[in-house]
Amino acid sequence: MNTKIDGFSKLDKNKKIDWIIQNHFNSKNDKKNLLKSYWNSDKKIQKNHDEFAENTISNFYYPLGVAPNFLINNKIFTLPMVTEESSVVAAACKSAKFWVSRGGFKAKVLNTEKIGQIHFLFNGDYIKIKQFFNKNKSKLIHSIKDLTKNMNKRGAGLKGLEVLNKNDLIKNYYQLKGTFETDNAMGANFINSCLEKLAESFKILIKNDNDLNANEKNIEIVMSILSNYTPNCLVKASVTCPINNLGPFKNLKAEEFAKKFLMAIKIAKSDKYRAVTHNKGIMNGIDALAMATGNDFRAIEACAHAYACRTGKYSSLSNAYIENNNFIFEIELPLSMGTVGGLTKLHPIVNWSLELLNFPDSKSLMEITAVAGLAQNFAAIKSLVTSGIQKGHMKMHLLNILKQKGASENQKNEAINFFKKNIVSVSAVEDFLKNA
Ligand code: MEV
Repeated sequence: MNTKIDGFSKLDKNKKIDWIIQNHFNSKNDKKNLLKSYWNSDKKIQKNHDEFAENTISNFYYPLGVAPNFLINNKIFTLPMVTEESSVVAAACKSAKFWVSRGGFKAKVLNTEKIGQIHFLFNGDYIKIKQFFNKNKSKLIHSIKDLTKNMNKRGAGLKGLEVLNKNDLIKNYYQLKGTFETDNAMGANFINSCLEKLAESFKILIKNDNDLNANEKNIEIVMSILSNYTPNCLVKASVTCPINNLGPFKNLKAEEFAKKFLMAIKIAKSDKYRAVTHNKGIMNGIDALAMATGNDFRAIEACAHAYACRTGKYSSLSNAYIENNNFIFEIELPLSMGTVGGLTKLHPIVNWSLELLNFPDSKSLMEITAVAGLAQNFAAIKSLVTSGIQKGHMKMHLLNILKQKGASENQKNEAINFFKKNIVSVSAVEDFLKNA
């Protein structure tokens, strides 16, 4: 059990599985068969997926759902959403339907700048490295011309390069900070390649410089990497309607609903425990779109939460207010997304999702994704301040429990009816099934 192994990655897929089962599982055959039952029967498709990552032994299914009726900037979209959370797609659909008859969503990309950093240690004064940098800046930029020429043709590429003094953080710590535009690519590979080349050229130029002394020439490049914090790659999405068009919601008048909604936002802006949950709800929509379109949801998550505490205090990513008797609900957040490169062509379902969205450019995808976040947030707050969240959640939960318990179609329908008026829990469903 749990023995070490050398050269695991060199084994073929079957041998990898055999080793894993042999060393980590008690019952052998069924565990291997389970993994194999998730292989695609089309060998070509399976090979494609095997090659996305190291040591792939099977596929891990996530549901791909769709949410129609999204009116965004006067065009109707059906959103592809990859999520395991049962209520997320249903919430998106409800929000889309609610707003489609109230003017829909508006969204706009505010800017698209990406950042890359070369972190280095320099045994000298900022003035010396700044003088050196100014003298050599054009040589540095020239050294990456082969890497940037294609981006440049599209009006993108390296847009700025500066040297920053970071000695207030760590002794002798400086940065070369590049700002980039990456057109329809998310740009991580492009930026990282540029940075590594810039760092190499920087070192060579320093070594051959006549104004720096031996101590100063002894710089250390610590690392070169893009920053996933992109506060200048921003998108804004909003919805608006006259307050009295909002409701009523059963026992809540439109004005009361708006008031409660605004208070929920105020709380999410003030209290970080609520803000995290509030923003998590927003990310339910954003991640689902990011996954379906093959974007890096970890980068998007990290960036969104850093942005949520840009003032020094973690707060809500969305905002709501009343103006001239209109209810306005909006979100502004950084979203670094791509519609070319990465998985976009390689993963057939990612490509399918992009086609469903009519092959958007990266700016349109940022807009659609921000809308998905706002729509989720609207659905969550609407439920929270009216019926409560469990009603909707539990409906999906009930279906999952019924499936787990092997309920028949008949039992399922009866249970759905019964639990409209009764509280869902595993034991309540078990009792129901016993008596059904
Ligand atoms: C659950 O995944 C998301 C919510 O908790 C979000 C929220 O509370 O705003 C419902």
